[in-house]
Amino acid sequence: MPLPKAELHLHIEGTLEPELAFALAAGNGVELPYKDTEELRAAYLFEDLQSFLDVYYSLMAVLRTEDDFFELTDAYLARAAAQGVRHAEIFFDPQAHTSRGVPLATVIEGLARALDGGEERHGISTRLIMCFLRDESAESAMETLDAAKPYLHRIAAVGLDSAEVGNPPSKFREVYEAAAALGLRKVAHAGEEGPPAYIREALDILGVERIDHGLRCMEDPELVERLARERVALTVCPLSNVRLRVVDTLEQHPLARMMDAGLLCTVNSDDPAYFGGYVGDTFHAVHEALGLGEEKLRELARNSFVASFLEDDEERRGR
Ligand code: HPA
Ligand code: ZN
Repeated sequence: MPLPKAELHLHIEGTLEPELAFALAAGNGVELPYKDTEELRAAYLFEDLQSFLDVYYSLMAVLRTEDDFFELTDAYLARAAAQGVRHAEIFFDPQAHTSRGVPLATVIEGLARALDGGEERHGISTRLIMCFLRDESAESAMETLDAAKPYLHRIAAVGLDSAEVGNPPSKFREVYEAAAALGLRKVAHAGEEGPPAYIREALDILGVERIDHGLRCMEDPELVERLARERVALTVCPLSNVRLRVVDTLEQHPLARMMDAGLLCTVNSDDPAYFGGYVGDTFHAVHEALGLGEEKLRELARNSFVASFLEDDEERRGR
């Protein structure tokens, strides 16, 4: 029996397995620049975040219909359930679809149909987190938030992803203020490739509840102390960090040191179709590479529920 856990850092577009990508491409008459799944998989040798994002966005061309988004999401839930996931807070990137002419309604209705069946079909409760692409303008993010207004009942929080360096959290101050005014919760990717100062901005300027990745906090002892004191959760993605060369090897990953420093860490898969494993595989990998024993793995699993939006959602709704 895999350890019951919540997954808090998962891009639904990053669960697009090569086999499904080719099947959807055939169904939608989309031509992929790869001969077959083997050739596509061979392209998954990334130098950094940007070289991954290039493949990630280009492969999204196969996602066109509501059924495509349903199928993608239902396939993720099935895989996640098999690895012990009981609750998933799922990122999606609306601008990566609307910019290709896929309406926001198509995306959200496909995702929502799969999530609505999540409990019954897979035993997984879910939340949706709408991410803004930080390498697009703040105006585009604000337009995206506006366009999402008919679907707010479907969306728990906003997030910030894509190319980090040069796109600090402060760029999105007004958008996050507007999101909060609409009752949305807030998270942001920070301190993956970007400096510790971006983590501070995400906390102080955007007012986020959790930091996605956050591992570069380890360069700033004062920040580590603050994150530990304020019990700010970090959604760490060790396999992603290795594949995107944020760290050289899994053995050198700071996760164990982060936990020893008193940080509220969770372990997540980020983009599992691209980075070599789903969240259960990730637990196994950190056990093997970092020597995290049963007790530490249980702590990580427990943290995933503590840091989730499950805990106080009911309370918030009553307010
Ligand atoms: N970082 C930033 N943007 C992303 C990622 C990531 O790890 N995955 C998908 N979009
Ligand atoms: Zn991510």
